Amino acid sequence: MKALVTGAAGFIGSTLMERLSVSGEARPIGIDSFSDYYDPTIKRGHAAKIAALGGTVLDADLNTVDLDVLLDEVDVVYHLAGQPGVRRSWGSAFEIYMSANVAATQRLLEAAHRAPTRPRVVYASSSSVYGNAETYPTSELVLPQPRSPYGVTKLAGEHLCRLYAENYGLSTVSLRFFTVYGPRQRPDMAFTRFLGAALREEQIQVFGSGEQIRDFTYVDDIVDAVVRAGSADVASGSVFNVSGGGSHSVNEVLTVVEELVGHRLDVQRKDIALGDVSRTAADTTEISTRLAWSPRTALRDGLAAQMSWLQQSGAPVPDWS
Ligand code: NAD
Ligand code: UGA
Repeated sequence: MKALVTGAAGFIGSTLMERLSVSGEARPIGIDSFSDYYDPTIKRGHAAKIAALGGTVLDADLNTVDLDVLLDEVDVVYHLAGQPGVRRSWGSAFEIYMSANVAATQRLLEAAHRAPTRPRVVYASSSSVYGNAETYPTSELVLPQPRSPYGVTKLAGEHLCRLYAENYGLSTVSLRFFTVYGPRQRPDMAFTRFLGAALREEQIQVFGSGEQIRDFTYVDDIVDAVVRAGSADVASGSVFNVSGGGSHSVNEVLTVVEELVGHRLDVQRKDIALGDVSRTAADTTEISTRLAWSPRTALRDGLAAQMSWLQQSGAPVPDWS
């Protein structure tokens, strides 16, 4: 099976590329624009590790590359490329979110529809489509009401997938990832910032009270769901939640970080971040039934793995507010 992985040099995409290269489940080709949302040298490092395993990450933008050539003989597209991040999607940045998350997805779906192989498209959607959900745990049937411009663009991408499924019979599966963590986590995300600051004995910034709750999900569990979605016998246009299955507040996470690093943390409370939701919690009945998937990694184990990775890689942690 030949697979195209978009966003292949990013946090989740590079983890998927490595899994496919090592396991042989598919012959992956990667594409990534090495965008500057965070330091592209981090992404170059991921691409170098993939190259060492015999994999390739093409440096190109989905909005301009010749997709017909790229999709030649491709059976499945894992579409992970995008402009991530809830907190930075306001103001003039929205243009980039529209381009990377909406226009690029539409262009990719058009090309997949044209391609003789009619590849399945697995789309990386987001828990951010729910906003502050009406009910918890939140099922896929709950009305999505995003609370950030980022969430709006991820929901638009999901709707595009459904449109191409309904109108053209293209096989699409959207996976709503819930806050992903683990080795290679992006430098703007909470755990990389918390662990990095704790290890350097610097101040940790908490947005709001810290009582906000997330259904954190370990990256290997996410990748496992993505691979299953690539071949599962499910209806075109399907949407599934993918989550770690726990409800942890940011303050609870900090307690675990404190135990792992073995010293008291210096925590500074900041204003709540615009677009931040107070809680995410997924109902995963659908994915466990249809994809036989369930999360395997407990929060403490995943955090310990992320800390080891940070200690070994010395990954830079920018001090973004
Ligand atoms: P990431 O930024 O590390 O990876 C995304 C990659 O896409 C980047 O390397 C970037 O250079 C690339 N990219 C952006 N625009 C592109 C374009 N036009 N053409 C080609 N490549 C492009 O982010 P991530 O955390 O690995 O997220 C991967 C996907 O999962 C994103 O679509 C994101 O919205 C989604 N998601 C992530 C999370 C999470 O918690 N990390 C949760 C829900 C959904
Ligand atoms: C994450 C990703 O960044 C999004 O790309 C993704 O789409 C989203 O998950 C999702 O699940 O859909 P977020 O939940 O904000 O978004 O993830 P983190 O950056 O790990 O933040 C978790 C919580 O910690 C948030 O409440 C945030 O405000 C808080 N936080 C983050 C801090 O208190 N301090 C920090 O330094 C960073």
